[in-house]
Amino acid sequence: MLTDNFGRKFYYLRLSITDVCNFRCNYCLPDGYQCDNDRNFLSLAEISRIAKAFGEMGTEKIRITGGEPSLRKDLPEIIAMCKQTPNIKKVAITTNGYKLPEQINHWLDAGIDAINVSIDSLDPRQFHTITGHNKLDHILKGVDIALTNNTQVKVNTVLMREYNGYDIQRYLDWLKDTPVTLRFIELMQTGDNQAFFDAQHVQGSRIKQNLILDGWLPAIRDKASGPAQEFYHPDYQGRIGLIMPYSKDFCASCNRLRVSALAKLHLCLFTEQGLELRDYLQQDDVEPLKAHIAAMMNDKKATHFLHENLTGATKNLAMLGG
Ligand code: GTP
Ligand code: 5AD
Ligand code: SF4
Repeated sequence: MLTDNFGRKFYYLRLSITDVCNFRCNYCLPDGYQCDNDRNFLSLAEISRIAKAFGEMGTEKIRITGGEPSLRKDLPEIIAMCKQTPNIKKVAITTNGYKLPEQINHWLDAGIDAINVSIDSLDPRQFHTITGHNKLDHILKGVDIALTNNTQVKVNTVLMREYNGYDIQRYLDWLKDTPVTLRFIELMQTGDNQAFFDAQHVQGSRIKQNLILDGWLPAIRDKASGPAQEFYHPDYQGRIGLIMPYSKDFCASCNRLRVSALAKLHLCLFTEQGLELRDYLQQDDVEPLKAHIAAMMNDKKATHFLHENLTGATKNLAMLGG
């Protein structure tokens, strides 16, 4: 089992398969960041070796992220391959959902277990302002198809004071009859969004207080619980999660490692430049790869030091899919 110097165990790999995205969410891509379709993204063979190595080292869950992972034509093959890897029990994806209704059946056939979709507003006009696309109804249709197929769905909403901060009630109304887990994510600082961050950042703890006053109850945490704090309510089919990276102890429950589309291991979403794996991915024998990864675990830090080192983080949120 991959363990770090702080006793944290890493059951969970977040694998970015492209850093290209077709949305331009206002909080996400750094100014001047160039996505490049022709870059040497992980091949299917390289992905299979990464999955195999991590599976043999105790990883049980792989989340496929991007950029936007559905922009890769071989996504169903990638899902199927991860799913068939020994020890990998769960394969999930994080998507902007723009092709969810068209593609979800292929993902389900390939064995996907869970889908996280970004929906930063339930108001179509605000959704357009945030993402640049008029796709809200289409994405909600995809969510319905996923739910009809009994697939676990989480919806991600990045909290922004002026864009959705006053619109929590609309989400609550929706959750009454919709069995998804909605996660309010605190806006995170990246190297070049300081002014935006200062204007828009809303503390998740404020929402937490209101939820508790309204009768929402904290869900019991298990080893699979990541940094999100989850709540449920007897009158609601949906749940609510809060992702508060600035809260005390956020990193204490860290259970994940990341590999970028360019074959770098990131021990944390922040602070790391990424440790090169590519040379180790060119042969079927994964033992050297495993030894290389295991040796790097000593470098994992206790926390993200989010306030201190912003330059390294600039591209990671966009490239690593969070
Ligand atoms: P599950 O796998 O279902 O628990 O979801 P997840 O929250 O890990 O994944 P998702 O891709 O939906 O990410 C939701 C948000 O959580 C994104 O904004 C991520 O950037 C953020 N997030 C996920 N993991 C971490 C982490 O380790 N550190 C920080 N700071 N943020 C994270
Ligand atoms: N702060 C918080 N969440 C972010 N995401 C992307 N950039 C940021 C940021 N600066 C979120 C997206 C998506 C998830 C993978 O990461 O909204 O839901
Ligand atoms: Fe773990 Fe880094 Fe995320 Fe903190 S920011 S929870 S240390 S990956």
